[in-house]
Amino acid sequence: MTGGRPGTAIIIFAMKILAFETSCDETAVAVVENGTKVLSNVIFSQIDLHKELGGVVPEIAAREHILKIIPVLDEALRVAKVGFDDIDAIAVTKEPGLISSLLTGIVTASTLALASRKPLIHVNHIHGHIYANWLDRDIDEIKFPILVLTVSGGHNELVLMKGHCDFEVLGETLDDAAGEAFDKVARLLELGYPGGPAISKIAEKGTAKYKFPRAWLGKDSFDFSFSGLKSEVARVIAKNELTDEFKADCAGSFEEAVCDVLSEKLIRAARKFGAKEVHLAGGVSANKRLRKMVAERLGTEAILRCPTRIEYCTDNGAMVAGAGYFMASRNLKKSI
Ligand code: KG4
Ligand code: ZN
Repeated sequence: MTGGRPGTAIIIFAMKILAFETSCDETAVAVVENGTKVLSNVIFSQIDLHKELGGVVPEIAAREHILKIIPVLDEALRVAKVGFDDIDAIAVTKEPGLISSLLTGIVTASTLALASRKPLIHVNHIHGHIYANWLDRDIDEIKFPILVLTVSGGHNELVLMKGHCDFEVLGETLDDAAGEAFDKVARLLELGYPGGPAISKIAEKGTAKYKFPRAWLGKDSFDFSFSGLKSEVARVIAKNELTDEFKADCAGSFEEAVCDVLSEKLIRAARKFGAKEVHLAGGVSANKRLRKMVAERLGTEAILRCPTRIEYCTDNGAMVAGAGYFMASRNLKKSI
């Protein structure tokens, strides 16, 4: 059993979880021990298939998941050096996501669980992203309360965690998620898909010379809005020639505006709720400028953690196994 403050202690149950993640355009299967030790994390990314069309095409994504799920499962077990009999429970992303993509993971996981009589754990995708910060770390290293900024293509939330599986949403986006805005602006700048890494790369060569708007939504609000910023960036792009210099400055100014709002609200919330730790999660947490800005503004007020590997920021199976483990541990603890 692990120690800690009341409400934060969890009992460690030795458990190997096999997890499936197919909520969007990654077919991902992982095996994780005790929520933190990643034995395998196999990801088949469909990016090359969707690139030419500038974004994820649900019909193509769904068909590809069906083709890849069994090979990816086989590979995950092979890399983890475990047989199916060694698996204690099966976890799967249930929502949110593209329904036609989610179905493949859910049907595969449910069928395996039913046939083998192993427990099946349904995981919320956003909770998966949040638990990516426990991967490859010591279970007791992380201290509550934690303020999490979970930000990706499909969601954008500020979450207060006072203990395991205790998620209080303080704010969320009222329109677009930051990752979605990155993808849209990248498309307008003809930088390709996915937009986040492309914007980040070209922004390094530019300066933030355009003063794009920040939607603060009132001084106490923890909500976000990026649609006004997106429209203003589109207006400036329409008035300029797409030279490399313009693209770099425009991307840099856009990235600066997004990171400014994300980091300011995150740190204000961390101070208000006395967070011991601040976590970044989701695809946009791979962004170097965001990490740097949060680190600089936070100083030594709280510990800053980002997923230990870039592949844990974007969609993957290990994060689903991690969240599944903590959910299962909590339920087992309740029942004994
Ligand atoms: O978490 P994720 O893989 O999928 C969703 O749950 O949506 O996040 C994908 C998003 C995309 O919008 C992508 O452009 C963004 O994360 N992203 C980034 C970076 N890497 C990925 N955004 C900014 N900077 C990056 N380095
Ligand atoms: Zn995601």
